[in-house]
Amino acid sequence: MARKKQIPELRHLDHILVSETAIKRRVTALAEQINRAYRGKDLTVIAIVNGAIIFTADLLRQLRSPLRLDCIRAASYHAGTHASGKPVVIDNLKLDIAGHDVLLVDDILDTGNTLSAVRELLLAKGAATVRTCVLLDKKARRVVPFDAEYVGFEIPNEFVVGYGLDFNERYRNIPCIGVLKPKFYSGRL
Ligand code: IMP
Ligand code: MG
Repeated sequence: MARKKQIPELRHLDHILVSETAIKRRVTALAEQINRAYRGKDLTVIAIVNGAIIFTADLLRQLRSPLRLDCIRAASYHAGTHASGKPVVIDNLKLDIAGHDVLLVDDILDTGNTLSAVRELLLAKGAATVRTCVLLDKKARRVVPFDAEYVGFEIPNEFVVGYGLDFNERYRNIPCIGVLKPKFYSGRL
């Protein structure tokens, strides 16, 4: 088989934290866990964009419940690697979620500000249940108490990019999760 052409920006990584193969394996295992939990139920998946786009796309194709998909936008990082605290949640949901079982998907659980704000909003809109699935969990960074029901990997307190995660909107297309070389964190807050 022909070798896959590598993305040039892979050279910006200092080191890889989670390989493409490890992500694939873990996403399959998470999907199986979710399939067991929601067997026989309808599901409403809500992805927090942009970060959760790639993870959601891969996860969704392995879910077997009848489901609907919607996206919500939240922002807490402003051109840097430090969260600004209270996230801005833009409620642009198109689906009526009242009485529905919601699976909230995000790329990473960091301070917990974003997921707790979004979960509160979904419960206020009448969701019957809200469970959360994140690819990455930086437990050491938690400011607001928050536990996700489904977690791909617990990672140390390092700023990571790839597989949907960005630094200043770049690097989302890198297929693994990695830490940037310090010189590429320009404009760091
Ligand atoms: P929280 O509100 O602090 O939990 O932050 C959650 C959001 O911050 C995530 O949805 C990401 O978009 C972003 N974020 C947190 N840590 C990282 C990281 O290491 N790399 C890229 N984005 C991150
Ligand atoms: Mg995000």
